[in-house]
Amino acid sequence: MKKINVMVIFGGKSGEHEVSLMSVTSILKVMNPEKYNIMPVGITKEGIWKRYHGPIDKIVTGEWEALAEAGEVISLGKNNPDAIDVVFPVLHGPFGEDGTIQGLLEMINMPYVGAGVLASAVAMDKAITKKLCSVEDIPQAKYVEILNKSYDKNQDQYIEEIQAKLSYPVFVKPANLGSSVGISKAKDRMQLLGAIKVAFQYDRKIVVEEFINGREIECSVLGNDEAIASLPAEIIPSHEFYDYKDKYFDGTSSFQIPAELSEPVIAELRRLALKVYKLVDCSGLARVDFFVERETNKIYFNEINTMPGFTKISMYPKMWEVTGLPYEELIDRLIVLAIERFKERPQ
Ligand SMILES: Nc1ncnc2c1ncn2[C@@H]1O[C@H](COP(=O)(O)OP(=O)(O)O)[C@@H](O)[C@H]1O
Ligand SMILES: [Mg+2]
Repeated sequence: MKKINVMVIFGGKSGEHEVSLMSVTSILKVMNPEKYNIMPVGITKEGIWKRYHGPIDKIVTGEWEALAEAGEVISLGKNNPDAIDVVFPVLHGPFGEDGTIQGLLEMINMPYVGAGVLASAVAMDKAITKKLCSVEDIPQAKYVEILNKSYDKNQDQYIEEIQAKLSYPVFVKPANLGSSVGISKAKDRMQLLGAIKVAFQYDRKIVVEEFINGREIECSVLGNDEAIASLPAEIIPSHEFYDYKDKYFDGTSSFQIPAELSEPVIAELRRLALKVYKLVDCSGLARVDFFVERETNKIYFNEINTMPGFTKISMYPKMWEVTGLPYEELIDRLIVLAIERFKERPQ
């Protein structure tokens, strides 16, 4: 069988650069060289693309940057001698998970792993996702969306609106980020003012939402138009909430995979995960995150990530593993899905 030429892109300009280095290390380690010719390409934090031929172990340390040949031509076109069959963008956050690189790959007619332009862009924006979900009555926390310019002019009005609609504590988040960056929990008016200021440092649009006293439950979805949902898993944060430090540095959060929940709750989570996936017109993969209220078991949708953390021990692959799909096969499946989606479209 002919080997598939895969360009694996990692790093990137977003704050989640390091997360990408971790994800890609796991991916490159298990991709079968009998099946794939792998061409790794790193993007530095400054946005410079570099082909990388060095050892996998030097990626996560950042040493790859100095080892990669600067200026080596990267040709993504389909009519060059070592034509790429499919691109696997292992990039998290803005400039990777948000439709930008997907748009570039569309422009040059290149199959790629993961969600398309629309789904990537919608899922990246928490405010747009919430609005879309409300149309289909997906249960979610009550929220208020604010634009920076408008807040500057009507600050008191917004604070009044938030206080009328939501009760403390509230969560304040930039609309277009991930990894808990810029997110804070505010317990009173003073803290709210500070939290809003912080969130606006990261985005011109923010959301303020009610606090859900819930367990953090996630579900993996895989597929194109006939996607399937995994068994859900639970994250038990070690901090007050699942913040950046907890996610990537302390590593003291614990995980329950699969989550201990009743059958009807599991079934409902899987149904809602697929519903949200379809709602944003996703393909390839996504992790759909929920809260399950402690007192009532009521489910609230939180967010959808179209390029979730992908190390061997990340939630997304782990959930598939307990559902019966091992890590290596998951990667094969994603590549097949990318090629299938490309072939299905009118040429
Ligand atoms: N409405 C909420 N109620 C309770 N906890 C929340 C709420 N929103 C966010 N959190 C906490 O903050 C974390 C990060 O928020 P999230 O919306 O998932 O942003 P990110 O895209 O950065 O992961 C969540 O994992 C959870 O611990
Ligand atoms: Mg999250």
